[in-house]
Amino acid sequence: MTVLLNPPAPNPNGAPPAVARRRMEVCVVGAGYVGLTAAACLADLGHRVRCLEANPGRLATLRAGGVPIIEPGLEELVRTHRASGRLTFTDDIAAAVGGAEVALLCVGTPPRPDGQPDLRQLAAAAREAAAAATGDLLLVVKSTVPPGTCEALELLAEPPDPAWRVAVASNPEFLRESRAVWDFFHPDRVVIGADAPGLGELVADLYPPDWPTLQCNRRSAELVKYAANTFLAVKISFANEIAALCEALGADAERVLTGVGQDSRIGPAFLDPGPGYGGSCLPKDVSGLVAVAESVGLPATVARAAIHVNAQAQDGLVAKLRATLGPLAGARIGVLGLAFKPGTDDIRHSPAVGLVHALTGAGAMVRVHDPLVARDVVPGERVDDPYAVAAEADALVVATAWPQYATLSPERLQRAMRGRVVLDAVGVLDAEACAAAGLDAYGVGRGRPLAFHPVVWLPLQWTLDGAEPPRA
Ligand SMILES: NC(=O)c1ccc[n+]([C@@H]2O[C@H](COP(=O)([O-])OP(=O)(O)OC[C@H]3O[C@@H](n4cnc5c(N)ncnc54)[C@H](O)[C@@H]3O)[C@@H](O)[C@H]2O)c1
Repeated sequence: MTVLLNPPAPNPNGAPPAVARRRMEVCVVGAGYVGLTAAACLADLGHRVRCLEANPGRLATLRAGGVPIIEPGLEELVRTHRASGRLTFTDDIAAAVGGAEVALLCVGTPPRPDGQPDLRQLAAAAREAAAAATGDLLLVVKSTVPPGTCEALELLAEPPDPAWRVAVASNPEFLRESRAVWDFFHPDRVVIGADAPGLGELVADLYPPDWPTLQCNRRSAELVKYAANTFLAVKISFANEIAALCEALGADAERVLTGVGQDSRIGPAFLDPGPGYGGSCLPKDVSGLVAVAESVGLPATVARAAIHVNAQAQDGLVAKLRATLGPLAGARIGVLGLAFKPGTDDIRHSPAVGLVHALTGAGAMVRVHDPLVARDVVPGERVDDPYAVAAEADALVVATAWPQYATLSPERLQRAMRGRVVLDAVGVLDAEACAAAGLDAYGVGRGRPLAFHPVVWLPLQWTLDGAEPPRA
């Protein structure tokens, strides 16, 4: 099936290409979502970029002209700048770092079992890059890290000649997977944290002069990223909390949250109720912020609440299915979507994957489809056609908001299924069309899986009683 998600090109409407303040020799360590995007886009801005990648499979793909991750526009940029000679890939640290003014550290900071970030890749990358320096070198941390990390890395980063200086600056990355190239070229802000004169300007030289830039100290820059991701997680959990309230009160969560988001002080983004936040960033960064706050004796109450609400989201979906299907053992359930969001094949901490595990753990027979996740990453049967997911299913769950699921024919789904239950956890289906086709479609804050019991709450009671409300 074609991927319909189609973000705009880096330079729409023939806008002139962006150019960095000056051309620099740049090393990028790590060719993942952040590193590969930064490497290709920095080459496009005019720099000469050597990208260091430790994973042999990933490096082989890049050297063979392929791109190991799916990001609109990235393959073209990589091809263009491999051809222009401004972008090379290597696993030779000396070749990557030698002669570079700056080395961008873009390695993973995955969560440890306790949720806090594991900084070992970063520490190793900083040590290795510093040891390969051939003069003064600025390490620029693009990975997401707890405040204080840049300072700690500077203690580890020793150049081979003590006369040379290896300093560490922060330049957190805000790109969104599935729009990474677009986001790189259209930043809301470039945040630069540096604690010594001239270093912030050196980082700013990487980018065009007219890009919005926020200069601050390192801890502040590191905290901007943690705080921004935590706020996004809070918005999602708040939307889910309101959706639960809507279900209990018989209100329409989609309308309610649209109305809330129309307030210009709030904004509509990240107010969609659903299966909870996931991906490689939000869960890890919110837990990281909580851990940092705890380390200085602060409770991080709001961030903790977001985690708490998010942890309930998956249980809520399973409970909804139980409420309509009864015991899940032996039930046939089709799941549409595995990626943590549309437009990517990334399944790290994907709520959809968590849901499949929960359903199979409860004894359900699960069949899954995803337009981009082609690997067998979950138990159950994977099929290439979304209608095949519905075949003989007692229930269908839409778990990732792929736009192409919105175009599925409810009539065809209904004919394929043996049951009628459709749990649209991400709100992409047309509820009225589903109902017209004879499907019982509901979602998070949408429709009603159970009989609605009106709540008699105090103001109504007071009105009925004709009594005055008690004074606060
Ligand atoms: N993925 C996102 O959407 C996103 C957005 C903003 C920030 N971030 C942050 O950026 C960082 C990187 O994220 P990612 O998703 O790109 O990770 P990733 O796991 O996709 O990529 C990291 C890459 O670094 C390579 N690597 C690790 N150690 C290395 C070394 N010493 N030398 C050379 N290569 C090495 C790995 O092989 C891997 O290819 C994380 O801290 C993440 O939280 C990610």
